[in-house]
Amino acid sequence: MEIVIVPDAATGGELIARAIAELLTDKPDALLGVATGSTPLPVYRALKSRVEAGTLDASRARICQLDEYVGLPEGHPESYRAVVLREVVEPLGLTEASFLGPDGAAADIAAACAAYDRALAEAGGVDLQLLGIGTDGHIGFNEPCSSLASRTRIKTLTHQTREDNARFFDNLDEVPHHVITQGIGTILEARHLVLLATGEAKAEAVALAVEGPVAAVVPASALQLHPHATVVVDEAAASRLRLAGYFRETYAAKPAWQSI
Ligand code: F6R
Repeated sequence: MEIVIVPDAATGGELIARAIAELLTDKPDALLGVATGSTPLPVYRALKSRVEAGTLDASRARICQLDEYVGLPEGHPESYRAVVLREVVEPLGLTEASFLGPDGAAADIAAACAAYDRALAEAGGVDLQLLGIGTDGHIGFNEPCSSLASRTRIKTLTHQTREDNARFFDNLDEVPHHVITQGIGTILEARHLVLLATGEAKAEAVALAVEGPVAAVVPASALQLHPHATVVVDEAAASRLRLAGYFRETYAAKPAWQSI
């Protein structure tokens, strides 16, 4: 696992956008797994700037969703489908045709989850999965004690996660209790995992995920099992890393030709 400490969120966004641009140069129709929430926004802004400047051709990229609320009315502006379309698909000049996501409004949620895992496999698998991390260590919405082998399924959000996400709704009561999330086993099948964490509130979760034991109680620690996982953290999110000095030295000494 590579840990890259960057001065701020914008630098992290640029770094990850560069890796995505390199991937799309090698494989123009790469399947990019995207997260929602606040953390990945600098990545999406950096990608949009590249597309607008003509330095990135994302026209054949395919985008897939990590998770989705269950029970929001179709078209709700905070459904993750709506967020991904607004923040990623449209700014990159793509259409819904290039987009894959689970159906959070399905009558049969279990079938919708199984169908989404199948759709990801049939699409050839995720090439690069962008992840955030919850203050409780979740990835996707795999809350603490999710099976490390889990597949896409329904999960119940913790009170802490619902409080964290209440800022996107009028009040806490409006935050759904349930989500569909790619399982940890599903996430680990992506070819490259890139987790971005910014801000002091993520420092403890990052330290546990990176330097603690692999444990279901810290779902993000599953990244330690992946052969190509990159954790990009700003100074605040890195503030509890015991090995921060080593991570800085390693990245500074990295050969120029080697991407994340
Ligand atoms: C959202 C997701 C979550 C978020 C996490 C952090 O699709 O998968 O794991 O990445 O809750 O959210 P922010 O970035 O808003 O702090």
